[in-house]
Amino acid sequence: MLNKRVEEAINAQINAEMWSAYLYLSMSAWCHANGNPGFGKWFEVQFQEEQDHAKILFNYIISRAGAVELKAIDEVPTQWNNLLDVLESTLAHEQKVTSLINNLYAIAQEEKDYATSSMLQWFIDEQVEEEENAQNIIDNLKMIKDNGYGLYMLDKELGTRTYTQASPLAGK
Ligand SMILES: [Fe+2]
Ligand SMILES: [Fe+2]
Repeated sequence: MLNKRVEEAINAQINAEMWSAYLYLSMSAWCHANGNPGFGKWFEVQFQEEQDHAKILFNYIISRAGAVELKAIDEVPTQWNNLLDVLESTLAHEQKVTSLINNLYAIAQEEKDYATSSMLQWFIDEQVEEEENAQNIIDNLKMIKDNGYGLYMLDKELGTRTYTQASPLAGK
């Protein structure tokens, strides 16, 4: 049986992950509309991964005989100034998600819910990668500045990203 406070916090995190998915789908649309299909593809994979994050938490609540509560997903931004703005917004968002995961972990610790702490370890590691990925693209964009060929090559490279399930825990 899942502790009520922990259950509420995990349900809130499911909503945050679905909002992230929606944000990245919106960024994907912006990238396609602005002539960067490779970036669009990269964000589409990001959209799929965020749904996996929500699904891992969803499956976990069910495993613990808890109650899943799906809340409304808030509106997401649709406009950015340029690609650097999109990626800087991504990094800022991932830093925010990291703090949400940390808070969730702290709640699990306070409630002595060791199974939830253990499950959240995956998310803690995942956030390191998420922040690093966004930072790497920001670094590339800053190096390229307004070099058209550089941007063309980066767009091609990001377009090769393919989706693989974030964790088998998403597929149960
Ligand atoms: Fe996520
Ligand atoms: Fe993420």
